[in-house]
Amino acid sequence: MLGRFALSLLPFIGTALAQAGGPYVDPDNGITFYGITDPVHLVTYGYIFPEDTTSTEFIGEIVAPIDSGWVGAAPAGSMIRNTLLVTWLNGDEVMGTNRFATDYIQPLPLDGPIITNLPSTMINSTHWKWVYRCQNCTGGTLNPSSAGVSGWAFSSAPVDDPSDINTDFEEHTDFGLYGLDFSAAHASQEDYDRWASGGTGGGTPPPTSTTTTATSTTPTATAKPTPYDYIVVGAGAGGIIAADRLSETGKKVLLLDRGGPSTWETGGRYQPEWLNGTQLTKFDVPGLFESMFTDSNSFWWCKDISVFAGCLIGGGTSINGALYWLPADMDFSTSAGWPSSWANHGPYTSKLKQRLPSTDHPSTDGKRYLEQTFSVVQKLLSPQGYNNITLNDNPNFKEHALGYSAYDFLNGKRGGPVASYLRTAKARQNFHLEMWTMVTSVVRNGSTITGVQTNNTAIGPNGFIPLNPNGRVVLSAGSFGTPRILYQSGIGPEDMINLVMADATQGPQLPSQSDWIDLPVGDNVSDNPSVNLVFTHPDIDAYDNWAPIMTDPRPADAAQYIKDQSGVFAQASPRANFWRAYSASDGRTRWLQGTARPGAASVTTSQPYNQSQIFTITAYLSTGITSRGQIGIDAALRPRVLTQPWLVDPIDKTVLLQGLNDIASTISQVPGLKMITPDNTTTMSDYLNSYSLANMNSNHWVGPCTIGKVVDSNTKVMGTDNLFVIDASILPSLPVGNPHGTIMSAAEQGVAKVLALSGGP
Ligand SMILES: Cc1cc2nc3c(=O)[nH]c(=O)nc-3n(C[C@H](O)[C@H](O)[C@H](O)COP(=O)(O)OP(=O)(O)OC[C@H]3O[C@@H](n4cnc5c(N)ncnc54)[C@H](O)[C@@H]3O)c2cc1C
Ligand SMILES: *[C@@H]1O[C@H](CO)[C@@H](O)[C@H](O)[C@H]1NC(C)=O
Ligand SMILES: *[C@@H]1O[C@H](CO)[C@@H](O)[C@H](O)[C@H]1NC(C)=O
Ligand SMILES: *[C@@H]1O[C@H](CO)[C@@H](O)[C@H](O)[C@H]1NC(C)=O
Ligand SMILES: *[C@@H]1O[C@H](CO)[C@@H](O)[C@H](O)[C@H]1NC(C)=O
Ligand SMILES: *[C@@H]1O[C@H](CO)[C@@H](O)[C@H](O)[C@H]1NC(C)=O
Ligand SMILES: *[C@@H]1O[C@H](CO)[C@@H](O)[C@H](O)[C@H]1NC(C)=O
Ligand SMILES: *[C@@H]1O[C@H](CO)[C@@H](O)[C@H](O)[C@H]1NC(C)=O
Ligand SMILES: *[C@@H]1O[C@H](CO)[C@@H](O)[C@H](O)[C@H]1NC(C)=O
Ligand SMILES: *[C@@H]1O[C@H](CO)[C@@H](O)[C@H](O)[C@H]1NC(C)=O
Repeated sequence: MLGRFALSLLPFIGTALAQAGGPYVDPDNGITFYGITDPVHLVTYGYIFPEDTTSTEFIGEIVAPIDSGWVGAAPAGSMIRNTLLVTWLNGDEVMGTNRFATDYIQPLPLDGPIITNLPSTMINSTHWKWVYRCQNCTGGTLNPSSAGVSGWAFSSAPVDDPSDINTDFEEHTDFGLYGLDFSAAHASQEDYDRWASGGTGGGTPPPTSTTTTATSTTPTATAKPTPYDYIVVGAGAGGIIAADRLSETGKKVLLLDRGGPSTWETGGRYQPEWLNGTQLTKFDVPGLFESMFTDSNSFWWCKDISVFAGCLIGGGTSINGALYWLPADMDFSTSAGWPSSWANHGPYTSKLKQRLPSTDHPSTDGKRYLEQTFSVVQKLLSPQGYNNITLNDNPNFKEHALGYSAYDFLNGKRGGPVASYLRTAKARQNFHLEMWTMVTSVVRNGSTITGVQTNNTAIGPNGFIPLNPNGRVVLSAGSFGTPRILYQSGIGPEDMINLVMADATQGPQLPSQSDWIDLPVGDNVSDNPSVNLVFTHPDIDAYDNWAPIMTDPRPADAAQYIKDQSGVFAQASPRANFWRAYSASDGRTRWLQGTARPGAASVTTSQPYNQSQIFTITAYLSTGITSRGQIGIDAALRPRVLTQPWLVDPIDKTVLLQGLNDIASTISQVPGLKMITPDNTTTMSDYLNSYSLANMNSNHWVGPCTIGKVVDSNTKVMGTDNLFVIDASILPSLPVGNPHGTIMSAAEQGVAKVLALSGGP
C-alpha cells in the first residue's frame, strides 16, 4: 500500500497466541513472576501484580544477555497508547524507563507512571537484570483480571545516548507476543508489599507439572475424519478465488483460515461507536483504512509475522487500502519471470473483472470527495507531460499516466474477494469455511499429500483433516504463511527445515530426512521500495490527518456515510496515482508508481508549516527492479524477513532518486505548493541516503515460492504429486501497480490450470 510502515515498526499487537507464558521464581530475588524467556534472544520478561485487582501497579523484570542493544516490554501487547518499558546498559549502570507511543513511531517519555528500580537490579559478566516497580501503570488496554497478550521488543543496536534516560533509539530489530494469564499473576498482598519495598524471597515455585501439562496435553479425537477433495489453506486474495472456482465444479472443498471474521457479512462486529446500530464494521468502511495502523486493539494483524499481514477472513484484502489495478500485459510476461504459458492472462483478467469491477469513484452517489489532492498533483505533473486517464481503462498505459485512484470497493463498502467470490462459494453445499484454524503442515507419504495438520480438533481427529483419494491441497497462506507451512512439511532449504527439526513440537511432525524436498522456498522475494515526499498547498484539506476517524469523525461525513454509503468514508485515503517508465544504465526499464493522499505519516522539518494543508506523494519502484531479499523463519518458527529486499542494486537506487527529483522538478510552477519533507535544507539525495530501508516497506511481498523455481507452471510444488500454491508467493516479480489485482488474476489462471491437470479428485 502506501509505503510508510516499517518492517521493524510493527510492534506489539494482538490478542491471542499459541506461545504462552507461565510462572517462575527468580532465583536471585525470590520473586514469583509470570512471563517467558524468548527462545531466540534469550531475554526473560516477567510481571507480578498485587492481590488487589483494582490496583494500578505491578512489579516487573527484564533479564537480558549483556550484548543486547536495548530491550522493551509492552505488558498490554499493543505498543499504541499503552505503558512501554525500555531498558539498556550505560556502562555498568542498568537504565530503565517507561515510554508511550500514539503511533508506530519513536515512543516518548511520559509523565504519569512512576518507576522505581528495585534493589535486585544487577549486572554480571553475562546479563543485566532490571527489576522495577511500576505504579499508575495499568492504563491503556492492560487488564490484570483476565488472560491477555504481552509483547516484547529487542534491538541488537544500542540507544542513541546510553547516558540519557530520555534518549531516542532506532526501531527494534525483532519483536514478539505471547499469551499471559494476568488473572493468575497476583501475589498475596503481604508478599507483594514486601517485594515492592525492596524485600525478597517467599515466592511460590510453580507446581513442576504446570508447564508440561499445558504444552503436552494430547488433543483428543473429538471429530470423525471428514475427507475433502480440495483443502485450501488461507482465505485471502488467492485462497478465496481458488476455493470458489474449485467448489464451482461440485468438488468437496474446505477453506481454512487461522483468523476470524472481518466484514459484517462474515460475522465481524468490530466497529467504532459512531457506527453502533449499523451493520457496518471497521472492515466494511473504506474511509477507516488509515485507522488500521493506529488502533490499540489491532487484533487483525498476524501476531507472529514481523511485517504487516492480515490474519482474518479476506487476508490482506480486508485491511488493505484496496488500490486495485487490472494487470498490465507486462505483469505476466516472460521477462517478468513467468513461464510463457501464463502470458495470455486476458481471459482470466476478464473473469476477475466480471466478478470484481474497479471504480475510481466509490461513493454511491457517483461523486468524488476530498479531491483537492488530485488537482494539486495534476498541476504538479501536467508540466512534466503526464496525461490524465481512467487508469483501469488502459492497464498497459503506464508511461506518464495519471488518474484517480481505483479500488475494488462495491456499493460504497469494502468489496474484494470476500464480497464477491466468497459469497458464491458459501452458497454451495459442497463448500465449507472453517475459521480460527491454523494449518501447521501438510501430512505426506513421500511425495503424496494425505491431508493437513491443524490445531482444530473439532473438525478432524487430533486436528488432522484428510484428503479423498487423488485429493489436493492448495496453499494460499500468503508470502509469509505459505513458506512456513512448507518448511514445517519438510519442503525448502535444509537450514530452514533444521530449525523446524530443533523445535520440540514441530520437529517430531517432520517426515524423515530422506523425504525432505530441497527447494529455494523464501529466496528472491521482492517488495516495492517506497519513499514519501510531504507537501503543503493552501487548497488541500488534510482531513485532520485521519486522526479522529474512529472516535470523533466529522459529523456530516459520518451521517452521510451511514445514510447511503456515500461521501468521504466511501473511499480509502489515496486520491491520485501515476506511473512513469525509466530506462537505466543496465539496459533495463524500471517503472515508478506514485500514490498521493491527504495527510502524512510523519513530517521532518524545523520550519513552520500548516498541518491542515499537508499531503503525501509516495513514490515506489515496481516492474524492472532487480533487488531481491529473502524470507524464512527464526528459531521460534516465526516467519521473518531474513535479508531485506530494498535497493540492494545501486541502479534501483539511482532510478528512484531520478524519479523523486523529477516529481519535485515542477514545484515552482504550482503557486502555493511547498515541499516540507525533505525541506529546502536537505537535498533529495541526502534524503534518500538517510531514509531508513525498513521504512521503504510497501507490504507488497511476492516471490518466495516463485513459479518455475518452487512451483511448476501448473502451480504444483515440485517434487510433490498433489500440493499447489496459489497466492502472492508464486509471483516471480512485482507487478507494475499495487499487487492484489495481479494476484487475483493469477489465482483465476492458477486454479484453472489445477482443474485442467489430470489425476485430480
Ligand atoms: C497494510 C497493507 C496494505 C496494503 N494495501 C494494498 C493496496 O492498497 N492494494 C494492493 O493491491 N495491495 C495492497 N496490499 C497487499 C495485498 O493485500 C496482498 O498482496 C494480498 O492480500 C496478498 O494475497 P495472498 O492471497 O497472497 O495473501 P493474504 O491476503 O495475506 O492471505 C493469506 C491468508 O492466509 C491465512 N493464513 C496464513 N497462515 C495460515 C495458516 N498457517 N493456516 C491457516 N491460515 C493461514 C491468513 O489469515 C490470511 O487470511 C496491502 C497489504 C498490507 C499488509
Ligand atoms: C497516572 O498517569 C496518567 C497518565 O498515564 C496521568 O494523567 C495521571 O495524572 C497519573 N496519576 C497519578 C496519580 O499519578
Ligand atoms: C548472570 O545473571 C543471570 C541472571 O540472573 C544468570 O542467568 C547468569 O547465569 C549470571 N551469569 C553468571 C556468569 O553468573
Ligand atoms: C450501542 O447501542 C446500544 C443500544 O442501541 C447500547 O445498548 C450500547 O451500549 C451501545 N454501545 C456502545 C459501545 O455505545
Ligand atoms: C481526468 O480524466 C477523466 C477520465 O478521462 C475525466 O473524467 C476527468 O474529468 C479528468 N479530470 C480532470 C481534472 O481533468
Ligand atoms: C488455532 O490457532 C489460531 C491462530 O493462532 C487460534 O486463533 C485458534 O484459537 C487456535 N485454535 C485452537 C483450537 O487452539
Ligand atoms: C505410502 O505410499 C506407498 C506407495 O508409494 C504405499 O505403498 C503405502 O501404502 C503408503 N502408506 C500409507 C500409510 O498410505
Ligand atoms: C533468483 O534470482 C537470480 C537472479 O535473477 C536467478 O538467477 C535465480 O535463479 C533466482 N532464484 C530463484 C529461486 O528464484
Ligand atoms: C491552515 O490551513 C487551514 C486550512 O486551509 C486554514 O483554514 C488556516 O487558516 C491555516 N492557518 C494558518 C495559520 O495559515
Ligand atoms: C527555506 O524555506 C523557508 C521557509 O519556507 C524560507 O524561510 C527560507 O528562506 C528558505 N531557504 C532557502 C535557502 O531557500
